[in-house]
Amino acid sequence: MSTNNRVLIFDTTMRDGEQSPGASMNRDEKIRIAKTLEEMGVDIIEAGFAIASQGDFDAVEAVSKVVTESIVCSLARSGRADIERAGEALRHAKRKRIHTFIATSPLHMRVKLQMEPETVLQAVIDSVTRARQYTDDVEWSAEDATRTDHDFLCRCVEAAISAGAKTVNIPDTVGYTVPDEYHALIKMLFNRVPNIDKAIVSVHCHNDLGLAVANSLAAVQAGARQVECTINGLGERAGNCAMEEVVMALRTRKDHMPYITGIKTELITRASHLVSTITGFPVQPNKAIVGANAFAHEAGIHQDGMLKDANTYEIMTPESVGLRKSNLVMGKHSGRHAFRAKLEEMGYNFGDNAINDAFKRFKDLADKKKDVYDEDIIALVDDAVVRENERIKFVSLEVICGTKVAKQTAELELEIDGVVKSAKATGDGPVDATFNAIKQLTTSTQHLQIYQVHAVTGGTDAQAEVTVRLEENGKTVMGQGADADTLVASARAYINALNKLLVKREKTAPAALSA
Ligand code: KIV
Ligand code: ZN
Repeated sequence: MSTNNRVLIFDTTMRDGEQSPGASMNRDEKIRIAKTLEEMGVDIIEAGFAIASQGDFDAVEAVSKVVTESIVCSLARSGRADIERAGEALRHAKRKRIHTFIATSPLHMRVKLQMEPETVLQAVIDSVTRARQYTDDVEWSAEDATRTDHDFLCRCVEAAISAGAKTVNIPDTVGYTVPDEYHALIKMLFNRVPNIDKAIVSVHCHNDLGLAVANSLAAVQAGARQVECTINGLGERAGNCAMEEVVMALRTRKDHMPYITGIKTELITRASHLVSTITGFPVQPNKAIVGANAFAHEAGIHQDGMLKDANTYEIMTPESVGLRKSNLVMGKHSGRHAFRAKLEEMGYNFGDNAINDAFKRFKDLADKKKDVYDEDIIALVDDAVVRENERIKFVSLEVICGTKVAKQTAELELEIDGVVKSAKATGDGPVDATFNAIKQLTTSTQHLQIYQVHAVTGGTDAQAEVTVRLEENGKTVMGQGADADTLVASARAYINALNKLLVKREKTAPAALSA
């Protein structure tokens, strides 16, 4: 068993997280997330699945060019084409890893791969050997490991290490295992695989039973030294192990679990908000660590205890995850200089061009809203960044509504591929009228599946953050928009989702892409 107590954090928000239905990210969004992950101290960033689409390839390549500290990784199945594509996409990376996988459970081998175990074993050896031609840093994963026959898993892990894998990953692909069983599985590998000390054992847990974090921690206690996870637990079905939860559990319960990670936990809140804005997946209010209520104390008895000593009801400080007391930050007289200084203080680093839109919107907001808080600035800046390269842009909106009009009417201007176009539409309510006007100007056949509004801060002048989910030909996308005007935020969210649909149409997923 490993005596080293450093646990490597492997972030797969941009690969497994992106496989979540509707959670698409474009190249620039991935660059932005990658820079944040690197700043947080993430050890390995899985930037995508290079062969999945040209968009994924471009994103892995682009992330490889900007990230210098973290290792950049691409996923690849066991075939030659996958590995070549991964190697090519990673060619500019200062530190690169190819992560190759094949399913090892009887069910997956028989039904999905239609391969005999011995052929799978040979594919393990061939894929790792091939990947080693591109980099010394090769990770091999046994897809559906937790439902794999132990003898066969041991043979595959041993073969992967002998072929040159430096990391062997034991995924709970379908979120099926439970903590003591997973602990025993990892221990079993340490006891039975003769060359296990030549590799780092990694874990990758899905959250179908809500056990992804507990299972990952159990595996660390059994000797695993790499945890694969995503920001906000994003991922297919019920998601992956949430990075913020596993990292804060290790930090908060050092007494019980004496392991360390390299994560600057103070950047957790920022990363969570960024990923939520980019993907359009809102964070549930009671989500551990990053939910809006995670540090809120409502009950009188709790508030009383908190006033006497925060330790009564807080096991970690809000500051340790980057939450600050709601600061009254700036007003309408604050200039560009002060705005930039505020952004820097909050950890944002933009060039001149990138802050222009955000500054303009800050000014508009300060005109409408008396008090502008840190949360307002975060919502506004993330919103501006998300929109930077959109083909459809919001220009203006005027809505006539209320009880005295028979039909609500929206007049809207959009800039589409550089040309400003306008439309007027009615609807059953102001939001419906606004969305109908957008539909008039765009030729998509999308259906609105979800429409949600939440207030960024308290007060009736709070900014609204709107989330929509659109579906088109079986593909879903999420969109988010923030503004002091709920209807403008709604229009921005719908437009954000439409832009993602445009990108989605260009993407084609390869067959048998799983987990
Ligand atoms: O869940 C899984 O098995 C995966 C592998 C590709 C590592 O995501
Ligand atoms: Zn997975």
